[in-house]
Amino acid sequence: MRNTMRFFVVILAVFAFLLGVAAVSSGKAHQAGDDVTAGAQLYDKWFARLNVSAPEGNHPLWERQTTNTRSGAETWRCSECHGWDYQGAAGAYGSGSHYTGFPSVFVLADRLSEQEIIDHLNGKIDPLHDFSGLMDDNSLRQLAVFLKEGLVDDSEIIDPVSLKVRSGNIENGKNLFETVCAACHGVDGKTQALHSDALEQSLGDVANRDPYRFLHRSRFGVAGVAMPIGRELGWSTEDSRDVLAYAQTLPTTTGKPVPAGAGADSEPAPQMGGPLPGIFGGIFTGLGVFFGMFGMSILFILGFVAFLGAIVFILSKRK
Ligand code: HEC
Ligand code: HEC
Repeated sequence: MRNTMRFFVVILAVFAFLLGVAAVSSGKAHQAGDDVTAGAQLYDKWFARLNVSAPEGNHPLWERQTTNTRSGAETWRCSECHGWDYQGAAGAYGSGSHYTGFPSVFVLADRLSEQEIIDHLNGKIDPLHDFSGLMDDNSLRQLAVFLKEGLVDDSEIIDPVSLKVRSGNIENGKNLFETVCAACHGVDGKTQALHSDALEQSLGDVANRDPYRFLHRSRFGVAGVAMPIGRELGWSTEDSRDVLAYAQTLPTTTGKPVPAGAGADSEPAPQMGGPLPGIFGGIFTGLGVFFGMFGMSILFILGFVAFLGAIVFILSKRK
């Protein structure tokens, strides 16, 4: 009887352990993925991600520059000051209408700890660079996680003058684009109207005009838009570049050459809740939930079988 009890306790312990492992591992995978994506969307346009309105007027640091003549909400976006390539004045925003002279955030990613980056965001380093009254602590942390783990350096593969991808597997890009993205954007990239600089643009326009924004958003998404994204599809750095290279071959809406110089404002229109994004988003979320739950279920079933085994074992000993 004592042996039976011991066996029973061991089985219970194993069961509890399995459940623990399942909870911890699924929690971790979920969180890490979410933090980088959330941080990237905050970087893009934090007030859209948090569903609040942008503060009134210009960002206080805006006074330190005179070259970029945008005003209001745009001036509060990390992307407007530090660029879609994260390199600030050292990158694509080193000239043109977006030039501010504000620094790159890229070099810091390696050097600083998460907390040290957060200290750049809560005004500890520069009181004018204080976002802590505008966002909760978790958002600041997600921004820091994104800056540490999510940044990609694409500067080597994009020609700074033509903005074309220098080398890319267009065939692979075409495949990925047509299997996933064309559902909404159309095989010619024109189906989903994109709104930038008060113009309706096609995906071909965005890819040619602002390749870094294309890369950032195709990897991490656009706040408030239900869209499958490279990070969740498991795309490699190269896959995103290949899709960009292919998208640069798509027709532009005006039929005229797009202006050179990286950068354009982007204001996704409020989502109309059209059936296609709804259904697509639904399927995606469904699949995500299914595969998330799948791992948990397997472990749970294993544990349950072990539990049943223990009961059968005890009953058979009793005889
Ligand atoms: C209005 C322009 C502006 C906006 C908006 C802005 N920054 Fe900055 N950022 C700066 C300037 C200027 C500096 C350097 C001096 C300072 O810290 O004030 C800086 C510095 C930084 C640094 C330290 C990097 C370094 O090399 O000094 C980090 C990290 C950073 N910003 C991240 C962000 C994030 C994340 C956001 C969005 C929440 C953001 N910034 C929004 C202008 C801006
Ligand atoms: C479910 C429909 C849907 C699918 C599928 C989809 N998108 Fe989108 N995409 C959208 C919507 C909606 C917008 C925002 C439109 C706006 O600006 O108002 C958008 C915006 C974008 C933008 C930002 C454009 C800009 O103006 O900055 C990029 C880049 C993009 N999509 C790339 C892709 C890529 C690459 C894929 C394939 C992985 C893809 N999309 C798949 C619906 C979709």
